[in-house]
Amino acid sequence: MVGDAAPPTAPASAGTFRDRLRSCFSAALHGLAADGVVAIDAAEIPALLEQVRETADAKFGDYSGPMAMGLAKKAGKKPRDIAIEIARRLAEAPGFTEAFAPPGDPVGPGFINVRVRDEALAAAVSAACRDERLGVPAVADPDTIVIDFSSPNVAKPMHVGHIRSTVIGDALARILGFRGHHTITDNHLGDWGTQFGMILWGWKRFGDEAAFAADPTGELGRIYRTVRKLADGKPEEIAADPSIAALAAKYPEAGREVLLETARLHEGDADNRALWERFMPACLGDIERLYRRLDVRFDHTLGESFFQPLLAGVVADLEAKRLARESRGAIGVFLDGDDKPPFLIRKADGAFLYATTDLATIRWRLEHWKPDRILYVVDHRQGQHFDQLFATAKRWGIDGVDLVHVAFGTVLGDDGKPFKTRAGDTVGLESLLDEGVERAAAVAAADDSVEAAERQHVAETIGIGAIKYADLCQNRTTDYVFSYDKMLELKGNTAAYMQYAVARDEGVFKKGNVDREQLRRLAAPIVLADPKERALALEIARFGEVLEDVEADYRPNVLTAWLFDVACCYSTFYDALPILKCAEPERSSRLALCDLTGRVLRKGLELLGIGTVRKM
Ligand code: ARG
Repeated sequence: MVGDAAPPTAPASAGTFRDRLRSCFSAALHGLAADGVVAIDAAEIPALLEQVRETADAKFGDYSGPMAMGLAKKAGKKPRDIAIEIARRLAEAPGFTEAFAPPGDPVGPGFINVRVRDEALAAAVSAACRDERLGVPAVADPDTIVIDFSSPNVAKPMHVGHIRSTVIGDALARILGFRGHHTITDNHLGDWGTQFGMILWGWKRFGDEAAFAADPTGELGRIYRTVRKLADGKPEEIAADPSIAALAAKYPEAGREVLLETARLHEGDADNRALWERFMPACLGDIERLYRRLDVRFDHTLGESFFQPLLAGVVADLEAKRLARESRGAIGVFLDGDDKPPFLIRKADGAFLYATTDLATIRWRLEHWKPDRILYVVDHRQGQHFDQLFATAKRWGIDGVDLVHVAFGTVLGDDGKPFKTRAGDTVGLESLLDEGVERAAAVAAADDSVEAAERQHVAETIGIGAIKYADLCQNRTTDYVFSYDKMLELKGNTAAYMQYAVARDEGVFKKGNVDREQLRRLAAPIVLADPKERALALEIARFGEVLEDVEADYRPNVLTAWLFDVACCYSTFYDALPILKCAEPERSSRLALCDLTGRVLRKGLELLGIGTVRKM
């Protein structure tokens, strides 16, 4: 491919550069095997092609394929010799890339480094400028993907622990949808658990009608907090609060009675059912308000209660198939042999469990939605539950669906312990958002030219964007320390930095009085003469690859890292090169690059559920 005549440029629809390069490598590897240079099993080739990736350092070209090392080792040959053989065959493949490959490469023993031809890059960028999808190809073979996320236990206020599932799940749904998959989002509310037993019990003893009328969730929250302390609190916790201590003396059996109330609800007791129906709208109204503020929507909200009529059938079926059996009155699936604790699906008192509902839910989803995958965006502490759930589902004959626990770590405070208020309570989600917005207002207020009403909107967008981004930019499986100061920094890998880049980009068009639509229609040629222009263009052209990588491991932080790279390349470009004040053809080309960068950043943030502002 290192010929003099420029090979024909593949159309933008031909996929990402990486895909196109992988098909060149595929042909080369097949050739290598056919010519007997090394033995390669056809089945190995996809994994070898996955090794073709962007380089970490631009001095080694744009993409690189390291597979010569592994292949050489297997064949007992020198990696460099294999690399030369691959590179030779790449040269024969039609395409638009040129190799810095061996021989004579400065890079060492077996890497095949490839550079995208400038003409091809310019063509891809021009195509992206005119493309609604910004050059991102849609998947060829879309899947139906259920995303089970957020799923709070209602009747207790949402707290900081709910942010991760909500934000990560929403981002994944947006990204997978944009990739072209058919996504179905489902909020699997915990609306049937012991927390209702607590509220029912407390309401009957010290519920306050007037308080409920004035602020339903406030009153339910008060009852919940009180009863939880009574029923589950440590003795010192109870003793510390005189009002709780008094109640504890009055109701020594609270813990047992709460369970009875839950059992009565589950058995269909009319009073408890009526109260549940009365409380639910208030609980839902409360979380709905938060979802609106977070700009999170669900296709379905089928809580645990929805699946209750199916649970007895699940247990009966698992027993009939001899997958579950009785043990000390309870019924469980013995996954790891008889002496290991089973996956319980019915307690000795007849109550069904979280596990039973999840099994019923899988079957229901399969029947109604026929998904190819179900993603559960849930705290890593539920890892064992999902391992057992998936193993049981498999034995139950559920196949053809990929069940994935998309796990995440804990949000920590400065002290490295789970994030709490100073008083030691969990931090309510609402007040968490409020504080973020309040602090963002200080950032936004710096610009006096922004009107007051607009300023509130800006503060909300920046504050909530900061909180979401701070979560999404973490490798989801690790814990992270929550810090308002860090997340609102204007420099660094923060939403504010990205939002600022977008606002700055808007400013270029405003200042130059350039109509962006018209600019796109003009489709002036893209000039990539300066390395800073080329670096920005190459980064932007990777959008599709990045989204593919997000999907591969369900990691939104791959997208945030790339957005940061784009914003940095843009900043370098913007600071060094004149845009409005340069001659044609550079002027139109640079404006087109600005236009595309702004749209790409905006789209990237939108896929993370983060808004942008015109000015900040
Ligand atoms: N309600 C559960 C909790 O708060 C999470 C539910 C997750 N989804 C599921 N299908 N199990 O812990």
